[in-house]
Amino acid sequence: MLDEKAYKQRVYIEDVHKYVGQEVIIAGWLYNKRSSGKIHFLLVRDGTNIIQCVVVKNECPEEVFNAYDDLTQESSIIVKGIVKEDKRSPLGYELLLTDLRIVHQAQDYPITKKEHGIDFLLDHRHLWLRSRRPFAVMRIRHEVIAAIRDFFNERGFVLIDTPIFTPTSVEGTTTLFETEYFGQKAYLTQSGQLYAEAAALAFGKVYCFGPTFRAEKSKTRRHLTEFWMVEPEVAYFDLDDDMKLAEEFVSYIVQRVLENRKMELEILERDTRHLERVSPPFPRITYDEAVDILRKNGVDFRWGDDFGGTDETIISNQFDRPVIVHRYPAEIKAFYMKRDPENEKLALAMDVLAPEGYGEIIGGSQREDDYDTLVKRLEEHQLPREPFEWYLDLRRYGSVPHAGFGLGIERTIAWICGLQHVRETIPFPRTIYRLNP
Ligand code: 4AD
Ligand code: MG
Repeated sequence: MLDEKAYKQRVYIEDVHKYVGQEVIIAGWLYNKRSSGKIHFLLVRDGTNIIQCVVVKNECPEEVFNAYDDLTQESSIIVKGIVKEDKRSPLGYELLLTDLRIVHQAQDYPITKKEHGIDFLLDHRHLWLRSRRPFAVMRIRHEVIAAIRDFFNERGFVLIDTPIFTPTSVEGTTTLFETEYFGQKAYLTQSGQLYAEAAALAFGKVYCFGPTFRAEKSKTRRHLTEFWMVEPEVAYFDLDDDMKLAEEFVSYIVQRVLENRKMELEILERDTRHLERVSPPFPRITYDEAVDILRKNGVDFRWGDDFGGTDETIISNQFDRPVIVHRYPAEIKAFYMKRDPENEKLALAMDVLAPEGYGEIIGGSQREDDYDTLVKRLEEHQLPREPFEWYLDLRRYGSVPHAGFGLGIERTIAWICGLQHVRETIPFPRTIYRLNP
């Protein structure tokens, strides 16, 4: 049998195509098995993919053939075999087994072939990550994040990491997570934006990318309490520039996933026709036009209200790609947004709504750059002046028109993957009801 250090010679399943006709070693875990008596089939996964290993009686040592009975689901094993092309298997290759070693025998693995409820699976998320569906989703998440970094790197943006402990709210005071900070109150960040604004005046074009926190009491399929947001911010940028950057950004991410994660999208049985159409320019409509669409579709909508999930679905269903809604009523938007000079009631804000009912994936705006107006806004929003003094400095010293936006990673992934709920898009989701595992 293979010796215990045999893994030192292992190759990854994603590379077996380079070794057709040759003998290779693979180190991984038993995903599944079946047998016809004379032939055993082992599905072995190593994190990069799954390969079927064929064990034929009389074509391998007897002890290897007989080890089948000890091979329980998720036992860790090292296998050796000859790589064969196999057009019928999803991988395109299989392994004719010649040797095997059980590294660790797993007992009664809780996630079996039978259907499990979502709560059971989430309670076992630390193990569920090994299954096929999380495999596909997490690899797409990885691609989305890599695409985000490449997009900004290619365009000369500087990454600025913003703090997680903050003295202020950004997106309203109702969803703040408060914590004790050496005798002082601190809040977990809701958005890195204010710091990204400071950095934009220092570096011209920047982005921050990190976890953000909101004590969302709403229990919807779009809300997490801990989620990742990427936020570009650019000096000398107006709302139009901002919308253009947003549509290029979203298109870039989607096209990268289509290019590099075909297999993963297939595992998820994602119909990619909607995704293939995602390219600039996106349709742009005003809030007023969006309200008209709702009313024409029989929604009794009051001007001035924010759109709910179903409203967003109706609006986005009118278009074949993401739609940008701009110029929202200032009253429902954040204190830092600049007003439309042509109508003071409106904020120079924009949201990008994803198709197929996925709703808002981006929120952004041009920022108020006038000192006196911003002071007035803080008062109107009943925000304390003192913790925002540093932010006001940005309007005291070299203020310029500037704009930016935030893209929610999990909502973007849910849309690209075609998932019902954002909780599956993050390795260990945090929601109002879930802090474990
Ligand atoms: O629209 P939001 O609140 O915008 C901001 O935070 C701005 N400060 C961003 C900026 O201009 N720099 O949030 C931005 C995006 C939303 O469009 C959504 O995709 C995501 O963050 N998001 C959430 N995702 C998951 N769970 C939640 N609870 C979320 N809240 C917002
Ligand atoms: Mg928003």
